[in-house]
Amino acid sequence: MKILMVSPECCPFAKVGGLGDVLGALPKALVSRGHDVHIFLPLYGSIKPKGRRYDNVVVHLGGHERICSIWEYAQDGVFFYFVEYQQYFGDASVYKDGDQKAERFAFFCRSALDMCTSLDWIPDVIHCHDWTTGLIPVFLNTTERGKLLGKVATVYTIHNLEHQGIFPADILAYAGIPFSEFHANSLESMGYVNFMKGALYHATKLTTVSPHYAQEIQTAAFGCGLDPILKFKAGDLIGILNGIDDKQWNPCTDPNIVANFSAEYLQPKKCCKRDLQRTMGLPESSVPLFGIVSRMYWQKGLDVVLNVLPFVLQNLSLQMVVVGCGEPDWEYRFRCLEAQFPDKLRVFIGYNEPLSHKIEAGSDFFLMPSRFEPCGLNQMYSMRYGTLPIVRATGGLVDTVESLNEKTETGCGFVFYDLTNDAIYNTIGWACSIYYDKPELLAKMQRAGMAKNFSWETAAIQYENVYRWAVQQRSLL
Ligand code: ADP
Ligand code: GLC
Repeated sequence: MKILMVSPECCPFAKVGGLGDVLGALPKALVSRGHDVHIFLPLYGSIKPKGRRYDNVVVHLGGHERICSIWEYAQDGVFFYFVEYQQYFGDASVYKDGDQKAERFAFFCRSALDMCTSLDWIPDVIHCHDWTTGLIPVFLNTTERGKLLGKVATVYTIHNLEHQGIFPADILAYAGIPFSEFHANSLESMGYVNFMKGALYHATKLTTVSPHYAQEIQTAAFGCGLDPILKFKAGDLIGILNGIDDKQWNPCTDPNIVANFSAEYLQPKKCCKRDLQRTMGLPESSVPLFGIVSRMYWQKGLDVVLNVLPFVLQNLSLQMVVVGCGEPDWEYRFRCLEAQFPDKLRVFIGYNEPLSHKIEAGSDFFLMPSRFEPCGLNQMYSMRYGTLPIVRATGGLVDTVESLNEKTETGCGFVFYDLTNDAIYNTIGWACSIYYDKPELLAKMQRAGMAKNFSWETAAIQYENVYRWAVQQRSLL
């Protein structure tokens, strides 16, 4: 199949969170199954363009045209297309806040479609990711109807329903979408244009990144106001669990860690722990080491961790390392606690990819207390690296982490239900007790986690099926 992926993030070119990881891996898995995959991305200021350049590509917006360049570059069998347009993408920021946010991504959507016609490459299916690409299915059902692109099927993947792209209605005139679409059964929501909602109505098929989240978003508690339409479209919505890039995240070969290891040869993991302690400035002690790598936002539940951390650090014999950035207030509170407990807590505020690998390899436990988590990748990286995840039972964390059952000695992590101080304190305490009192059970859990298969192969097969259904359904139009 000819597949065009459109996304604002893609590893290694642009990554803010897991979406970048997904786009860095899924296309390769599809190519290895024989598909022709093209990825369309903005050329942010941080990306050095390479490959072939097509100049004077015309982007047809509402009543006016803009001229951009498109760069084409092939790697690992995947074709990357970068749209170069200084005014919108000249600086490095992916989700830059400001006046032009709506125009930036309306332009992005329109330029993806205009590239197809300019380069005379018409895909069978366009796979759109998250709100920034939400106008594509709307264009195909409106301005492109009856034209070449109007027959193309769309698959729209929700990576995070919280961010919907909500803007004043004048974006429709800018984009060239008929004002007749400004109603509740299309992209209007409470007097605003909602990019995500438009996609939910207009895409041929919908997916999200785990089966559990696919159910959750059909409820008021997780639907972010869009649960009625997700319920309405439930027959076209499927949850496909993300995989992980097992080349990037492989403890046997990872160049970011001091010693490589595997399930059969776990001993070197201890060297990784010592290296992590040294790197972060912690004493090289044998107490359990807990890791966190996370964006610091509401979704991730770290505010509750911050509330309970003084008691954890005061009372429990452990160490913790934290890497992340986001809410300035949370960053500050982590720093204050670090100053108060320097032998127990070390914090790196910022984005640091090599350090995130060291944490996965060197920690004994990995903490993910998310309020909601569409899929989550770090719990899977953790299991691959013999690090036991401690997670809240939500979204993809439910689908990937089986909690320890001490009677049957099964499970490969620790799952708690309420996002409360007590639940976090007690679950960390539980993990410590297994570490100190039942080391054989801990080793068994590590092996169980490392044996899990999170390869992209399984997900690629499921996406392939969804693409087929979408193409079939669209052909009936
Ligand atoms: P989300 O996309 O919601 O942030 P995921 O678990 O899907 O959550 O993916 C997060 C990705 O971003 C992982 O690859 C994680 O290692 C990475 N990441 C998050 N914060 C940082 C950071 N401060 N430094 C390095 N990597 C980070
Ligand atoms: C989003 C979600 C995360 C998911 C990632 C990749 O950022 O928050 O849970 O793993 O997308 O699909």
